[in-house]
Amino acid sequence: MSSLTESPAWIALRKHAAQLAEGNISDLFGADAQRPQRFSAEAAGIYLDYSKQQADEQALKLLLVLAEQQNLSGWIGRMFAGEAINQTENRAAFHVALRAPRDAAMRIGGRDVGPQVHGVLDRVCAFAEQVRSGNWLGASGCAITDVVNIGIGGSDLGPRMVCRALTGHADGPRVHFVANVDGAQLTAVLHGLEPATTLFIVTSKMFTTLETMANAGAARRWLVAALGEGAVGRHFVAVSTSSKEVAKFGIDAANMFEFWDWVGGRYSLWSAVGLSIAVAIGAARFRELLAGAHAMDAHFRSAPLEKNLPVLLGLLAVWNRNCLGARFGARSQVVAPYAQDLEFFVPWLQQLEMESNGKSIDRQGQAVDYATTPALWGDVGTNGQHAFFQMLHQGPAIHPVDFILPLRAAHALEEQQRMLIANCLAQSAALMLGKTPQQVRTELQGKGLEGETLEAALPHRVFSGNRPSNTLLLPQLDPHHLGALLALYEHRTFVQSVIWNINAFDQWGVELGKQLAQSVLAAMAGDAGVSLDPSTRTLLARSGQ
Ligand code: F6P
Repeated sequence: MSSLTESPAWIALRKHAAQLAEGNISDLFGADAQRPQRFSAEAAGIYLDYSKQQADEQALKLLLVLAEQQNLSGWIGRMFAGEAINQTENRAAFHVALRAPRDAAMRIGGRDVGPQVHGVLDRVCAFAEQVRSGNWLGASGCAITDVVNIGIGGSDLGPRMVCRALTGHADGPRVHFVANVDGAQLTAVLHGLEPATTLFIVTSKMFTTLETMANAGAARRWLVAALGEGAVGRHFVAVSTSSKEVAKFGIDAANMFEFWDWVGGRYSLWSAVGLSIAVAIGAARFRELLAGAHAMDAHFRSAPLEKNLPVLLGLLAVWNRNCLGARFGARSQVVAPYAQDLEFFVPWLQQLEMESNGKSIDRQGQAVDYATTPALWGDVGTNGQHAFFQMLHQGPAIHPVDFILPLRAAHALEEQQRMLIANCLAQSAALMLGKTPQQVRTELQGKGLEGETLEAALPHRVFSGNRPSNTLLLPQLDPHHLGALLALYEHRTFVQSVIWNINAFDQWGVELGKQLAQSVLAAMAGDAGVSLDPSTRTLLARSGQ
């Protein structure tokens, strides 16, 4: 048994959860007329309603005791102090420094990184404005109309999601994203682009990532074939931590935008990795995005734990996963943004959550004896309602849902926005309330059904209900509120990792596949010395390589 599962707070929580699981979420409203007010909190313009969770005052109290036991406040302090909380790589996880105001001292080991952060941010903003205004000219003297970000994982998902989410604010050159090593993606993006008016941003923390280097190499050949070798300097810029690798690729240091090893890939959109965002929406709005994230950082750092949005979200996730989990039988967490513009939010969150907390070894190197991150998935509403919501309502396992709802639309179709809001609110209510056999019976009788026909129809129309959700309301999807929302989820991920006693900031789990891909490539190239398992060798033989 680990010290976590043996701890008094953990045991008390599990015991309380077992008692609470006997009742219904809706009964908790009967016991507390003020529940919607008391089970809600607000920060940086984001309103969190968690009254539809199967949790009462005592559950929250015990969760806060658990947070204290795991020294959550201490860990938050360590993160903001720039300590090396990413212990397996001996690094700080200091993405909060990327969105701190210019006058804030953000120290790592006594050294203020603020000046370098703002130095690069200023360069990013200035360059983005040069491209947007048409002052940055391609080799043939043409202004840039299309920007292609080449990167993968955190060097793709964050900027891709933000650019899509803020489409309504985009007034710069068109921005495209290429991540997959599958050449189909690059081919599709390049189709219809003019080399003379295209700028490539090669984004990679290490600048050795297989997919990114393959795509960047192919893009370079496409450009050189049209404009010659001398054009590379006007059509390629790099975002990386490694000036050495960038130089090896042939991009001039003057065209490189730096970030640092204390910025994790999945936490990097706030750094120079956000260059494509700044090009799309402009420097001022990019800074608003950072300011929104900073507002959430300030709240996370200083608000009391019981009113702290990321803390509440993180603790409720632990409650659902580890305490009520036995009843749920659930292995997953669903996220349903009710905003088409957030269509890439879930893939971004999947990397954030599952690359951070998909671990089974604790900070002391011991195997954990409790569940860590659930599989996270979802899609935008209302599309998801016509796909997987059937399972959410009537499937045997319970999957907690986070509903995210920006209230004001960026478009003029107001009636449809009302329908969107109504659907979002209706889904969380339906998940909680369900429909009893008696209600179904009355409904069917009202439709004239009776006897065997009624009895046969009835069970299929019953909803057990009692399925928990959070609802997050944003006034609108603008740079400030989007920044705050993303920072909220970043910190929620960290809160869970603290409770689970795991390091959220490394990702050793992706290394083995990368290594084996090199072996398979070597075997394809005819290296007979490569050792492959029989299944893989057979598949390779069948692949015709
Ligand atoms: O998939 C592993 C990973 O290291 C991610 O953490 C990272 O976001 C991605 O690869 C891309 O890495 P890089 O930015 O170094 O190309």
